[in-house]
Amino acid sequence: MSRVKDKTILVTGAANGLGSATARLLAREGAVVLMSDIDDVAGNTVTAEINAAGGRANYLHHDVSQPEEWERVFSQIRSEYSRLDVLVNNAGGGTYNDIETVSFQEWRRVMSINLDATFLGTQYAIKWMKETGGGSIINVSSVAAFSGAPNLAAYCAAKAGIHLLSKSSAVYCGQKGYNIRVNSIHPGLIDTKAGKEMARLATGLPTDDQAIAAFTALHPIGRIGTPDDIANGILYLASDESSFVTGTHLIIDGGFTAV
Ligand SMILES: NC(=O)c1ccc[n+]([C@@H]2O[C@H](COP(=O)([O-])OP(=O)(O)OC[C@H]3O[C@@H](n4cnc5c(N)ncnc54)[C@H](O)[C@@H]3O)[C@@H](O)[C@H]2O)c1
Repeated sequence: MSRVKDKTILVTGAANGLGSATARLLAREGAVVLMSDIDDVAGNTVTAEINAAGGRANYLHHDVSQPEEWERVFSQIRSEYSRLDVLVNNAGGGTYNDIETVSFQEWRRVMSINLDATFLGTQYAIKWMKETGGGSIINVSSVAAFSGAPNLAAYCAAKAGIHLLSKSSAVYCGQKGYNIRVNSIHPGLIDTKAGKEMARLATGLPTDDQAIAAFTALHPIGRIGTPDDIANGILYLASDESSFVTGTHLIIDGGFTAV
């Protein structure tokens, strides 16, 4: 249990869903996990559970949509830790709006928690990691980056932006010789609160069970994903096992996009 032993890893949106599963797995594999979120109650609960199980975790309040929050959080962790080995830009989410009805305010909100936040985190991480010999940046996008879901206009655009921002950053860091890898992860439908809500909205079906059954049919493997399916991919990109992997997009979707 030491695939990321003693690495310092910041996971945004770590209080729930994919983020909390990722934080728990990274801690079990030996990392010092800095968990950030705006849901302080859940964030502190998960942190306490990780520490009670023998892991090492700290919680920070952090609204990823705000540039000044990134400044504050990086200033705090730079004063307490000697380096940041891995950043997981996981916080995000979307709302169900098509191009005709999405308001500019809602468009900006979805952009800010997904694309703006990933831009800010990537920029702050590169600035520090290049001084300390390198690192790995993992940006959580979605299969929505690859297909035009009609009622997810802002979300598709934001997640597609994360896809190419990651590739551009990877090539730049490689050419500069920073030893910083940047990759994106693209989950299919995952069994989280947000995932179930998205499934209900997309199908128009009233219950989680009905919506998940409809989505299961779209995943050739015969089930939707679990948070651990994604956490395992993040663990690989965080570990030195992926030291030759940069500028790629790891699709973890049970075959959803292969159809
Ligand atoms: N669940 C899915 O089916 C699915 C599929 C593809 C991609 N994703 C992506 O995976 C990531 C995690 O999704 P999830 O299903 O675990 O969602 P979730 O809603 O369960 O968890 C998201 C976490 O982000 C936090 N968060 C929201 N806004 C924030 C902000 N401004 N600053 C800091 N934290 C904030 C929330 O408090 C929450 O803890 C998101 O980027 C999402 O778009 C999810």
